[in-house]
Amino acid sequence: MCGIVGYIGPRDATPIILNGLKRLEYRGYDSAGIAVLEVDGQLRVRRDAGKLNRLVTLVDEQPLNGNLGIGHTRWATHGEPNARNAHPHMGATGEVVVVHNGIVENFLQLREELVAEGVEFKSDTDTEVIVHLVEKFLSTDVPLEQAARSAFSHLKGHHGIVLISSREPDKIVAARIGNAGGVVVGFGQEEMFIASDMPAILEHTREVVFLESRQMAVITRGGMALQDLDGKPLEYQTDIVSWDPVAAEKGEYRHFMQKEIHEQIRSLTDTIAGRVDFEEARILLPQLNLTAEFAKKIEKIYIIACGTAAYAGMVGKVLIEKIARIPVEVDIASEFRYRDPIVTPNTVVLAISQSGETADTLAAMAEGKARGATLWSIVNVVGSQAMRISDGYISMQTGPEIGVASTKAYTAPLIDQYMLAILLADLRGTLSESERKALVADLARVPDWAGQALSREAEVAKVAESLKDITHCLYLGRGINMPTAYEGALKLKEISYIHAEGYPGGEMKHGPIALFEESMPVIVIAPRDPWVDKMISQIEQSKARRSPVVSVATEGDDTIASLSDHVLWVPDVPWMLSPAITVIPLQLLAYHIAVLRGLDVDQPRNLAKSVTVE
Ligand code: AGP
Repeated sequence: MCGIVGYIGPRDATPIILNGLKRLEYRGYDSAGIAVLEVDGQLRVRRDAGKLNRLVTLVDEQPLNGNLGIGHTRWATHGEPNARNAHPHMGATGEVVVVHNGIVENFLQLREELVAEGVEFKSDTDTEVIVHLVEKFLSTDVPLEQAARSAFSHLKGHHGIVLISSREPDKIVAARIGNAGGVVVGFGQEEMFIASDMPAILEHTREVVFLESRQMAVITRGGMALQDLDGKPLEYQTDIVSWDPVAAEKGEYRHFMQKEIHEQIRSLTDTIAGRVDFEEARILLPQLNLTAEFAKKIEKIYIIACGTAAYAGMVGKVLIEKIARIPVEVDIASEFRYRDPIVTPNTVVLAISQSGETADTLAAMAEGKARGATLWSIVNVVGSQAMRISDGYISMQTGPEIGVASTKAYTAPLIDQYMLAILLADLRGTLSESERKALVADLARVPDWAGQALSREAEVAKVAESLKDITHCLYLGRGINMPTAYEGALKLKEISYIHAEGYPGGEMKHGPIALFEESMPVIVIAPRDPWVDKMISQIEQSKARRSPVVSVATEGDDTIASLSDHVLWVPDVPWMLSPAITVIPLQLLAYHIAVLRGLDVDQPRNLAKSVTVE
């Protein structure tokens, strides 16, 4: 996720902005930039790919002097991480610069319209359409904020946007649209600050206003005018935050894990963004370097990973086999590397890894490569070893995941594999146009479905109260939600230290049913999918043996509600996308049980965020 910092006041803007960006480095990025309105009235930009120290060196070599500026660290969504794609983006007149967090979902259409009007684009990014739209509406009798409102009314998606103009040297305009890009305004003494996250400005002020969706701030040295996107003035109260720097990174959440569970609206937006042409119903995964010729030749895909990532791969198997009709085998990486796997030149080894540094996964990748396989990876940490050694990759784009228990880096690869399956099917011709359009259209609603599941956190916390003292637990799932059972169990065991097992629902009669009794609660994942009737019978069998049952069910399913002791409701979601949603109440359940047990949720005992040794 991108970082934004802005300043207006009596001091030199450059060091304040650069230091602020440094405080946001933990968010992950692959390029950075700064724009300052210099004392001669010109806006000048410095930007580069790579880490912030490259930008600092650039600014040392070519200093920027002024009291108004904005800066940005970018996590590439589309457009390679290089200087021309780094923010801030300047328009054709050189009078406006913009920094942006989020994705303009309809940027292809907007770009075509602007090109038809004679606009020349200098980057591959979606963001650049914003600055050209603002310039289009800006004129002597149209103030910057009004031009910005007109421009923003054309944008689809979730955004945090900050812009300045040499035409109005005493102003910063900022806006938040949707839930992706946070925007916080800091109040100083005759100086003002703006940032995407508190840590960037905490050293200067603790008096802040967090913008809400569809709010615009017009900021001058003396303060802020808040309005909605129709220009209607809004009242506001400032907050005084007492956070220490680490707490500031958690924002309004108690733990990084809770923050990251809730960040899934944003991380699912980011993993989709820029990769879907919704008009043409096409998937764009350029970093995979996949040709139609090779796609047609693929005979088998091994998905190799560890822990949570392996469970994500189990969902991917169902998706790729169902949509692209390619045989898929999921292998725990520590097994794959030692079992003399059968690999041909038409085999793909697809590694899934949040860190991209897991020793077993890297070793399995090396094994696959040594045997002639094509190596792909789905990785979160840009520039990690797994990404570097792959022939092609898909970045999860969730932003850094700090909590040891993986959450957003589980749901993102589920969607990445869904998109991969559609792309493979499209290239292999195994999907009709209408089927492809339907599958692609559903992607647009994933962040909203996640938001609906997250909105029920209070209900989940209540169920956690009733489970906080259990010593065992079984999670049952079937079909595409069988891995959800495994992942839900892993979440509970790794942060609450309760012994929990995930099991295919159909396996109960082959042994585990002997465990059913009052002290053995059963979590049944039973959304409205092709297997729901089988899961209802599972619930009945569990109840018949006095096991308490907690069901994950689709809103309105009265049958399951009548049979279960508790229900964790999820929205009605197409079954192929359901694992990204059904897991959310299980993440929250594990989190709240661990909190009730007074445990260290973010750093559970014996665990590391990345297992870089065997
Ligand atoms: C999951 O919550 C754990 N942190 C662990 O299972 C993790 O998924 C596994 O170690 C793989 O890590 P990676 O995705 O960084 O390769």
